[in-house]
Amino acid sequence: AIGNIKGFKSGTLRLAVVTTSKYFIPHLLGPFLEKYPDIDIQLNIGNRQQTIERLKQGIDDFYVFSHPPSDIETQSIEFLTNPLVAIAHEDHPIAKKQNLTLKDLSKEPFIMREKGSGTRYAIEEFLKHHNTKLNVKMTIESNEAIKHLVMSKLGISILSAHTLMYGGQSGLVRLPIKELPINAHWFFVWSKSKRQTLLAAEFLDHIETNGRSLLQKEMISNDILSR
Ligand code: PGA
Repeated sequence: AIGNIKGFKSGTLRLAVVTTSKYFIPHLLGPFLEKYPDIDIQLNIGNRQQTIERLKQGIDDFYVFSHPPSDIETQSIEFLTNPLVAIAHEDHPIAKKQNLTLKDLSKEPFIMREKGSGTRYAIEEFLKHHNTKLNVKMTIESNEAIKHLVMSKLGISILSAHTLMYGGQSGLVRLPIKELPINAHWFFVWSKSKRQTLLAAEFLDHIETNGRSLLQKEMISNDILSR
């Protein structure tokens, strides 16, 4: 009914989101599509740099980042926590150790996301802050491929805990490193200069009124927030 009142029944909602958020964005879209079955959704998934380019070009209604660009005029809402955690295979010797610190991590072969990745940006800022370097052995453009390499015991990594949601983590464990997690946050971002459609405004309302609490519950039930 609200769709009629607000003057839309159909239309296209365009979203561009960073790769790590693809684990939860679809779960937000489901209930919205149920409410507005005649709308279309275009979901673009790229790394942080690719998503910033789309924002600059004004292509989409909303963007999802955990590190929004500071040099573009935008509006945003903070949406959800995004803890970045260290992962290893459960049989990796480091997984057996206790009282782990960043120093223990820095000796191990590390698998890093590519340049342009927000995950990498967050890790680099964190390392600067702690005045440490990692032993980067591989650079990979995909969270999934990194997880599989860690499962194959080829190294360790730091990824968003969201990448561990909804199964598929066979053999992966989270390392209790003293200095971790990196406490990032998700933001929904939109351009100040682009006029918001009624559909986009309704989606924003949906995120704020239903989406946030829905995902917080899922994060808790998937044990995303524990250390
Ligand atoms: P990424 O972004 O997918 O580019 O690593 C994630 C983030 O911004 O935290």
